Amino acid sequence: MNSSAPASNFTQDDLKARVGLAALDYVGEGQIIGVGTGSTVNKFIDALGTVKDRIRGAVSSSVASTERLLALGIPVFDCNEVDELFVYVDGADEIDCRGCMIKGGGAALTREKIVAAQSRQFVCIVDATKQVRTLGAFPLPVEVIPMAVGRVVRQFARLGGTARVRQANGTPLITDNGQFIVDVTGLKITDPFDFETEVNQWPGVITVGVFARQRANVCLMGTPAGVETLRYD
Ligand code: A5P
Repeated sequence: MNSSAPASNFTQDDLKARVGLAALDYVGEGQIIGVGTGSTVNKFIDALGTVKDRIRGAVSSSVASTERLLALGIPVFDCNEVDELFVYVDGADEIDCRGCMIKGGGAALTREKIVAAQSRQFVCIVDATKQVRTLGAFPLPVEVIPMAVGRVVRQFARLGGTARVRQANGTPLITDNGQFIVDVTGLKITDPFDFETEVNQWPGVITVGVFARQRANVCLMGTPAGVETLRYD
């Protein structure tokens, strides 16, 4: 598929497939690739399957992505088995004009931030609906140790936000790390760097889903006109 061809009648799913495919341009021969989580990354994993004989394998950010990678015959390494990665490819729930993001809609934010921090380059793959002027319209995911949830909810209320524990089948969703997610609505995150630093040091917060310090270096954005490449540094 030619990722630069016009795509005016494409569905959101088609756009995800196109950016997933376009991200192969950032995959080098013999490398171990950092792989994110979510429906857009699933398209990237499928594309990665077509070049699996040219890479060494992947470091994965979730159990779900690990299972998909292994099913395609792509070896998965533990973070601690490898040093720096050349590239990390992941989606986002929102991305602003500096490459700062909200992530964690798939509850994998902590491992995503760990693998992103271990990577030289973050390539974000999204469809154009994810581009925003100010972060915060998407409910902000925060991974929290269960005993701290009540206080964290009250701290967000003081910032004007409403935090709710994410549910799955009527009980709190448990992350791959055995913790809870709170989703926070009503925030306008005008300074993602300060916000990330502030919330990350609240006791009991494992990871806030603002990715400013681990922001994207490149964004491959699926638009009706094709895949646009945005660079932030
Ligand atoms: C997973 O925890 C998230 O950070 C995803 O990257 C984000 O939710 C985007 O997911 P989709 O590609 O499914 O929209």
